[in-house]
Amino acid sequence: MTARIIDGTLLSKQLRAEVAQRAAALAARGHRPGLAVVLVGDNAASQVYVRNKVKACEDNGLHSVYDRYPAELSEADLLARIDALNRDPQIHGILVQLPLPPHIDAHKVIEAIAPEKDVDGFHVANAGALMTGKPLFCPCTPYGVMKMFESERIPLAGANAVVIGRSNIVGKPMAMLLVEAGATVTICNSKTRDLAAHTRSADIIVAATGKRNLVTADMVKPGATVIDVGMNRDDEGKLCGDVDFAGVREVAGYITPVPGGVGPMTITMLLVNTIEAAERAAG
Ligand code: GUN
Repeated sequence: MTARIIDGTLLSKQLRAEVAQRAAALAARGHRPGLAVVLVGDNAASQVYVRNKVKACEDNGLHSVYDRYPAELSEADLLARIDALNRDPQIHGILVQLPLPPHIDAHKVIEAIAPEKDVDGFHVANAGALMTGKPLFCPCTPYGVMKMFESERIPLAGANAVVIGRSNIVGKPMAMLLVEAGATVTICNSKTRDLAAHTRSADIIVAATGKRNLVTADMVKPGATVIDVGMNRDDEGKLCGDVDFAGVREVAGYITPVPGGVGPMTITMLLVNTIEAAERAAG
């Protein structure tokens, strides 16, 4: 069996067209949706992610503000900037790119963002509400993965799902969304003993550890859906995920590529969340 490839670029194109329509409708009513993206320091990967987020706003009719600060920025100055953005009526979404430099308490910074502008869905108010099924915003990467399941009509109720990774950004919210959809969910991590014993009985595998080739063909049940959230570099410097794509695609039923899979969906769902924030603010 050769897996069907879930094309995140194509699905993103369709969803971004809807975003652009909703942005235009809001702008016509005098409420142009606005996203503020804040980057502290010069992490090379973060710079690329942030540039892509800002460009996606420009391409789809959203207003964006890009704040770049040196790594030495004090925590107090960052909190003051967030306070100003919380009060700015032209800004509906605030995203502080993670990781932050070590002298800044990321938890404190996330909690300073107004929950109704927390388009990452990382604030405890939104993370907590995700547990009860009613967050204002779902974190963008797991939200994008759910859209991929939906677009391919992959059944989740009753499915065995294994999430590999336990971060607040991907693993934990991904597991919650799958639980909410009726899946039987196991949360593994890079230290899990006999990971293959878990993955071999999974109908759905979501790999989000940042470890190259963590998921190989022998670990995958024939026909399973394999979602690769990893973003790594191979020996030639080429982008690759956590899944051995060439091997696993011969066993899986569905698979996401890297690049062109989950990555574009993350940015797309950030736009969707920002539009929703703006629509709520507009009433
Ligand atoms: N760093 C890696 N992924 C993300 C994300 O989705 N949002 C933010 N703010 N930082 C990240």
